[in-house]
Amino acid sequence: MRVLGIETSCDETAVAVVDDGVKVLSNVLSSQHEIHGRFGGVVPELASRAHLERLNPLIEEALAQAGTGWGEIEAVAVTRGPGLAGALLVGLTTAKAVALALDAPLVAVNHLEGHVYANFLEHGPPDPPYVCLLVSGGHTMLVYMPEEHRYEVLGQTVDDAAGEAFDKIARFLGLGFPGGPELDRLARKGNPEAVRFPRAMAGSGDYDFSLSGLKTAVIRHVREERQAGSETSPEDLAASFQEAVVEVQVQKTMAAAEAKRVEAVLLGGGVVANSRLRELMARAAQSRGLRLLHPSEELCTDNGAMIAAAGHFRLARGERSSFDVGVEPGLPLR
Ligand code: KG4
Ligand code: ZN
Repeated sequence: MRVLGIETSCDETAVAVVDDGVKVLSNVLSSQHEIHGRFGGVVPELASRAHLERLNPLIEEALAQAGTGWGEIEAVAVTRGPGLAGALLVGLTTAKAVALALDAPLVAVNHLEGHVYANFLEHGPPDPPYVCLLVSGGHTMLVYMPEEHRYEVLGQTVDDAAGEAFDKIARFLGLGFPGGPELDRLARKGNPEAVRFPRAMAGSGDYDFSLSGLKTAVIRHVREERQAGSETSPEDLAASFQEAVVEVQVQKTMAAAEAKRVEAVLLGGGVVANSRLRELMARAAQSRGLRLLHPSEELCTDNGAMIAAAGHFRLARGERSSFDVGVEPGLPLR
């Protein structure tokens, strides 16, 4: 089945054409980083307007790159939440119009499910059960999946999301937006043991995370040093901060995998593009004999292909969304 996937939940307008939930024919996106960069975060109204201007041409581009005509699109998958209401509305309304015009089924997808299914694009469907770590700009959670499309949230952040922490620290250090990729690049040249920042909730015995204390610790460290006239290099700071985030994520993911007795661990979300996260996760998984799956870097951050993939597997189960379906900015994973 050839599915058109549309994603507009945040600051990337993204469209893809995917065959059978695994074969990416095209995957194009228009990122709004240049619009939001100077504000240091996503401005919802500007995001909606940019989606509105960019989505139609992007759909044409996705079809052209896939070498497919409108008539060959068999279904339309679109994100309905979680995300920014106005931004979601642009994607969902467009998807409804396309589905209606083509007389094709519509399937409205949870964005987080998209991040999980990004793994299916390159590896094919793994055998459940698995444990999945979802780390993005808006979410940080550990999920147990006993079977496809069934989610048991084991734990999540009690304050900031991991990506949000990366973005805030990057902003504090005067780096660009989004901050994750810049910090990652800087950290590669730094010493992760230069400063021992707190590993928040590492010993809490549950699967929850907390990141706002770490953010405060980094800022306090820099201010105290400045007063004392000394300074840790930005590279060392970035590496030490990143290490504190990643170490707890690896530890909790492995603990969940062991407790749930799964053989596979899936990673999803923009922060999975982080090189240190992949490195430490791979090491930990290998030493435990676990299969580790993560999307390639460009499929970790928001894209249309992951939405098409998640939609495909729902459609294959006979699911369809009604044309009455609305956006749900706080849509939970269930
Ligand atoms: O999944 P995503 O594209 O959008 C949301 O659903 O939020 O994730 C975006 C987040 C941003 O906070 C960005 O800074 C972070 O992912 N990110 C990274 C890296 N690349 C993107 N964080 C750490 N290291 C990276 N290499
Ligand atoms: Zn995302």
